[in-house]
Amino acid sequence: MNSLHGCTALITGASSGIGAEFARQLAPHASGLVLVARRADRLEALKAELSRSGLEIRCHAADLADGAQVGRLLAALEENGPRVDFLINNAGLGDHGLFEESEWSRVQAMLDVNVAALTRLTHALLPGILRSGRGAILNVSSITAYLPMPTMAVYAASKAYVNSFTEALRGELRGTGVLVSALCPGPVDTEFGGIAKRADEEDAAPAPEFLKQPVERIVRDGLRGLDRGRARTIPGLPLAVMMFLTALVPIFFLRPFLGIGARNARKK
Ligand SMILES: NC(=O)c1ccc[n+]([C@@H]2O[C@H](COP(=O)([O-])OP(=O)(O)OC[C@H]3O[C@@H](n4cnc5c(N)ncnc54)[C@H](OP(=O)(O)O)[C@@H]3O)[C@@H](O)[C@H]2O)c1
Repeated sequence: MNSLHGCTALITGASSGIGAEFARQLAPHASGLVLVARRADRLEALKAELSRSGLEIRCHAADLADGAQVGRLLAALEENGPRVDFLINNAGLGDHGLFEESEWSRVQAMLDVNVAALTRLTHALLPGILRSGRGAILNVSSITAYLPMPTMAVYAASKAYVNSFTEALRGELRGTGVLVSALCPGPVDTEFGGIAKRADEEDAAPAPEFLKQPVERIVRDGLRGLDRGRARTIPGLPLAVMMFLTALVPIFFLRPFLGIGARNARKK
């Protein structure tokens, strides 16, 4: 992780899963970590776990679905620092089921966290990252960004936004020394699945084991991909090959298959 050595990283969604693992893997190399999520107790426990001399860790409890709280986070950074040179936009949530049956509050939260907060934090922190002459932005996307996903319509669309935004930003920042990359994991065992599942939904069939990756591998591959200047990282060779081939198939041929899961869900 040459380019990230000595960085000060702000990690959203650091209270569990992929975000907490980013903090764990960066802690030996970073000089500062800013941990952001709603569950302050989890952030403090992670801080205690990772504390070592030479590493400054700050915890900031904030609901990223609330624009006022995002504003307070940015104001606190502006007033008291630290100066962030590595932004990891990782916080996110999903929702599984037919769109017409979704709760609006959940849909709104997905748009606010997965799209709006990610965009606003990038907008606010990028000028400082650029001034430092080095630095990085890593946006946690998903393989669902590659295809429209009936029964995860808004989630997949929010991740398609993340991929498009990341690619465009990467183009804008070429030659500035700032690295920009998207991490597109497939299924990972974290709290994500339980949160995306609706109360009345039956347990979905588990993802095939060969597509699953441990969270440690997801994060290691994401950091390595960023360090090597990759635009996107899909952890795991089988999944990377699968998504590469999928991207080659015109949507025209895929449409008949896309709605199968949704049709089954509607029959129930
Ligand atoms: N797990 C998967 O299968 C999978 C696959 C592909 C992509 N991803 C992506 O990976 C990222 C991390 O997910 P994960 O798998 O690690 O899931 P997770 O264990 O559920 O972690 C989600 C994190 O986001 C934070 N978060 C959610 N809503 C928030 C809000 N309103 N304000 C602030 N923080 C919020 C949570 O913290 P608090 O609850 O404490 O606020 C938590 O730290 C997400 O962007 C997700 O879309 C996951």
